[in-house]
Amino acid sequence: MTDSPPSIAIIGGTGALGGGLAARWAQAGHAVIIGSRSPDKAARAAAAIEAGAGAPSVRGMGNAEAAAAGDIVVVTVPYANHTTILDQIGAAVRGKIVVDATVPLTPPKVGTARLPEHGSAAQAAQAILGAGAVVVSALHNVAAHKLAKAAPIDCDVLVCSDDEAARAAVVALVRALGLRGLHAGPLANSAAAEALTSVLITINRRYKVDGAGIRITGDLADDLADDLADDLAGGG
Ligand SMILES: NC(=O)c1ccc[n+]([C@@H]2O[C@H](COP(=O)([O-])OP(=O)(O)OC[C@H]3O[C@@H](n4cnc5c(N)ncnc54)[C@H](OP(=O)(O)O)[C@@H]3O)[C@@H](O)[C@H]2O)c1
Repeated sequence: MTDSPPSIAIIGGTGALGGGLAARWAQAGHAVIIGSRSPDKAARAAAAIEAGAGAPSVRGMGNAEAAAAGDIVVVTVPYANHTTILDQIGAAVRGKIVVDATVPLTPPKVGTARLPEHGSAAQAAQAILGAGAVVVSALHNVAAHKLAKAAPIDCDVLVCSDDEAARAAVVALVRALGLRGLHAGPLANSAAAEALTSVLITINRRYKVDGAGIRITGDLADDLADDLADDLAGGG
């Protein structure tokens, strides 16, 4: 690992979730590459983001080029386009961590959890990309419009992967967003995080909440301190 933080390519980075993530990671000092089906649209979205002091500039390009340019690749596209996009970036993400935030929502019943044949969207992603890429799932339960504001966000982030080192790297990336990322086990556990989004949508509607989040209770302080120490030592 180099001294500078990894660059992050966000596929679908012109959208609600991708745009919020791009702004926060840029502020935290990561080089960010916004991917889009339209390089012009990506360039416009990149120009609108203010990077942190001294941070590398934010760039925009086509999805496959963005995936090739980033050290870590984050997928933030609607579930209906998940397979198509993964097929398009597959060659470019070999040897990389792919963070999948896709929730397998099936409109119009987005308040009802429905998981795909593979068990979760994240497992489907791993099946499509194959062993050449390491899929880590995260960020399913954070409301995009909250990321777009500077205010603290009251939500934990469940991070799942079969590869512990990759999971640790993404826990650190979540921390850079100003959120608490938690090791939540293997990729199969992504089913729980993905399904929780439909629960949160239902709660938002029923109680008129502006983006309900999740909190894991219990005394996690020591383990979180260990995670932070690993980050600082360059282990995550
Ligand atoms: N919004 C949230 O609060 C939130 C929270 C957690 C997780 N998620 C998940 O994150 C993902 C993105 O959500 P979002 O709300 O950011 O979505 P979005 O704004 O509707 O779309 C994100 C981007 O996906 C690209 N896209 C749209 N249609 C496409 C198509 N047919 N083929 C390829 N790319 C297409 C677009 O980029 P270009 O037009 O530039 O190509 C768009 O800007 C979803 O899977 C969602 O479940 C969302």
